[in-house]
Amino acid sequence: MIRFAEKRPDRNAPCWCGSGKKYKNCHEEFDDRIRKIELQGHSVPDRSLIKTPEQIQGIRESAKINIAVLDEIGEKIRAGMTTQEIDDIVYRTTVRMGGIPADLHYEGFPKSVCTSVNDQVCHGIPAPDVILQDGDIINVDCSTILNGFFSDSSRMFCIGEVSEEKRRLVQVTKECVEIGVANVIPWTFLGDMGSKVHQHALENGYTVVKEIGGHGCGLEFHEDPYVSYVSKPGTEMLMVPGMVFTIEPMVNMGTDEIYQDSGNGWSIYTADGKPSAQWEVQVLVTENGREVLTY
Ligand code: MF3
Ligand code: CO
Repeated sequence: MIRFAEKRPDRNAPCWCGSGKKYKNCHEEFDDRIRKIELQGHSVPDRSLIKTPEQIQGIRESAKINIAVLDEIGEKIRAGMTTQEIDDIVYRTTVRMGGIPADLHYEGFPKSVCTSVNDQVCHGIPAPDVILQDGDIINVDCSTILNGFFSDSSRMFCIGEVSEEKRRLVQVTKECVEIGVANVIPWTFLGDMGSKVHQHALENGYTVVKEIGGHGCGLEFHEDPYVSYVSKPGTEMLMVPGMVFTIEPMVNMGTDEIYQDSGNGWSIYTADGKPSAQWEVQVLVTENGREVLTY
C-alpha cells in the first residue's frame, strides 16, 4: 500500500476527504504525519481506508441491525435448538430490518451466518442436524449489509451447564477483545494492539490462531488491513482516525494448529479437538481513541 505515491491536492484546492474545505485547512497536516511515518518504513493506510463521516454513519446504521440480530439470538438460543434454526432467525431478522446477511453466498458460503461449536474455530455452517447440547459453547458470527455498508461481529454463547474450563476460555477470550479495543489508539500500530491481545491469551495458558484474523470492514466485507493477534509491537499498519476494522481473535484451549474441513471447504477445526472461542467487534479509530460500532 504505497500512500506516498498518492497525489496530493493543491493546497488551496478542496480536500480529498470531501469536506469541501481547502486541503491546507483540512487533511494536509494529517497527510504529512502519515507520510513521515511511512518514510520510517512503516505500513500506512491508503486514503481508501479512511472513511468519510457519511460512510461512518452508513456503517453505524448497518451495525444496528447486526447488534439487534445477535441480541435476538441471545434471547432464543438454548439446548435442543439446531444451528439451522439460528440461521433462520438471522435471515428473518436481518431482512425484516431492511438488511442483507453478508455471509449468504459470500464466495459461495451457503448460509446467512457462521455457527461454530466447541472445537470448531470458525466458519461453521448451520445445519438441521447440528443440535445444541447442554455444555456446548458456540460462536455466532453475524455480518450485515445495509445500503452497501458492511458490519460484522460475533459473540459466544454457553449452552446450559458449561464446564468451568470452557467458561474460562470464553471469558478470557472476551477479555482479549476488550484489551484489543482499549489498545486501538490513533497513531500507534496494529501490532501494538495485537501483541497485547496475544499476551493476555498466552498468560492464561491459551494460544491464538495465526492464519485467520480481523480485517478492515465497511465499504466491503473484507478490506485491508489484515488484523493479526500474533503480531509484534511497532509492526503492522498504522492506525489513524477514520479507519474501521474488526478485532476478532480466535483463542484455543490447546494447540494453535488448525485444519479445514475438506468436505465443505469452509469449517475450521482445532487440530487437537480442544475447544476454541472467539468474540468479534468492529471499531472505528477516532481522534482520541475508538468507537465500538458492533459487539
Ligand atoms: N464473519 C466472518 C468474519 O468475521 C466471515 C465469514 S465469511 C463466510 O470475517 F463466508 F464464512 F460467511
Ligand atoms: Co470479521
